[in-house]
Amino acid sequence: MSSPALSGAVAHHPWWESGVIYQVYPRSFQDSDGDGIGDLAGVLARLDYIAALGVDAIWLSPVFPSPMADFGYDVADYCGIDPMFGDLAAFDSLLAAAHARGLKLILDFVPNHSSDQHPWFLASRSSRDDPKRDWYIWRDPAPGGGPPNNWISDFGGSAWEWDARTGQYYLHAFLKEQPDLNWRNPALRDAMMDVLRFWMDRGVDGFRIDVLWHIVKAEGLPDNPPNPHWTPAQTERDKLIQRYSTDQPEAHAIAADMRALADGYGERVLIGEIFLPNDRHARWYGAPDRPQVHLPFNFQLIENDWNAATLNRIIADYEASLPPFGWPNWVIGSHDAPRISARIGEAQARVAAMLLLTLRGTPTLYQGDEIGIGPVDIPPDRIRDPQHWRQPTLDIGRDRSRTPMPWDASANAGFTTGKPWLPLNADWPVRNVDAQLADSDSMLALYRALTALRRVTRALAIGGFAMAVGDSDVLAYERWHDDDRLLIALNLCAEPRQLLLPVGVRIAEVLASTLPSHPMDGTLHGDEGLVLRLERDD
Ligand code: GLC
Ligand code: MG
Repeated sequence: MSSPALSGAVAHHPWWESGVIYQVYPRSFQDSDGDGIGDLAGVLARLDYIAALGVDAIWLSPVFPSPMADFGYDVADYCGIDPMFGDLAAFDSLLAAAHARGLKLILDFVPNHSSDQHPWFLASRSSRDDPKRDWYIWRDPAPGGGPPNNWISDFGGSAWEWDARTGQYYLHAFLKEQPDLNWRNPALRDAMMDVLRFWMDRGVDGFRIDVLWHIVKAEGLPDNPPNPHWTPAQTERDKLIQRYSTDQPEAHAIAADMRALADGYGERVLIGEIFLPNDRHARWYGAPDRPQVHLPFNFQLIENDWNAATLNRIIADYEASLPPFGWPNWVIGSHDAPRISARIGEAQARVAAMLLLTLRGTPTLYQGDEIGIGPVDIPPDRIRDPQHWRQPTLDIGRDRSRTPMPWDASANAGFTTGKPWLPLNADWPVRNVDAQLADSDSMLALYRALTALRRVTRALAIGGFAMAVGDSDVLAYERWHDDDRLLIALNLCAEPRQLLLPVGVRIAEVLASTLPSHPMDGTLHGDEGLVLRLERDD
């Protein structure tokens, strides 16, 4: 069985297959009220910028009422908006304005845990007999005393917190302010499905589902096995293999139920945040007759070294791991990962932009990467990330990817009239949206050119894909649709490399280069990426 995309047969491609997703981290996008924190009215004010970027959908990181222990990933009310961000009316306005511009809006759904201030948890911890006790995961101490098992929080330390009043521990895979919900409880499950209904009834186009592979734990909560390969450079979490705390069959069944619910609403997308090896990752697509998420987020471009051999391998392996009906996707940055420009430098970040927007599958772009925000120095007294504070020696530094968007050269880069909650990138007076809009050689101009090219080129948006042969340090692949045949050649080093063409073809047209000028002298210049249209050489 071959997939329609590979065979070139005419198939319907929903918006989330052909489109580009843009992640907005609302705290840092645009502030409208001078409190130094971005908000929904701010996003609304910048919608034209997003539309002009040429993306198709916005994924908004959480905007729900939250004590902000983990900056919104600790939700105290799944069906509201935090006053810091606005209110439901402001949300409805944003949604309508996005739709009016042809943009979809995807919300962040955080099912694994709530805030410890959620009324459900307040009830749950009030007494062992409370009807909501079982909505969370409570256990007696181990027989000899101490936590019920050896599980480690993803943010370091035991995953168990002692509650003196009711004399039991509760589980938290992340902060103790983020107690894990018990998805084995049918009433909790119904309540969470109602949350999805609430937002889909309001018109949202889908959900990015936070740490989806965590939501069910193995019966009996057995100890996790030690990881024999752990080194002190890794997080404390990695000391154990999360065999019993993640990726359980029951979680797949719940994802399938979520999908059935979403499918009842038409073309709504479900994107799962899932970190697993390819074989287990691919299972989150489910089966054709019982699908799970549309897009299990693929973070491999973030997690792996930046060189031709590695990229060749991960792209080929990922493509080969997909089920025939599974649509690929690629992510290059997020609010959790180091900035791509900081990691590989600006010249290669331009190549990365071309890679992201020419691979087969849905690209997700993170705010600020389109202007190439690079390394940012956060002074110790301004560090806010709780994951950093729990493991300070590891230099986790998620704040460095969460700094405010620099819009122009006015005070605070036009982000706020107050004090930005995190420092700006130091080079904001020159690296800002306004400056890059005025510069046809800018990273922003490159991103806009690539999204525009993708929009008019079916071969890029929905076409076939195959790796091609490249010179050393060159990553090359072909894309095609009907008679249109493209070669993408990316030079991952700073020196020129040879451009190798497939047999029997010549270059018909240079569609894009990551360099401002592309003389086409038959070589790939250092740090150059090219999109070429091919024609038969006869
Ligand atoms: C996800 C989020 C991250 C958050 C964590 C716990 O990984 O992307 O920001 O800290 O889940 O909710
Ligand atoms: Mg604000």
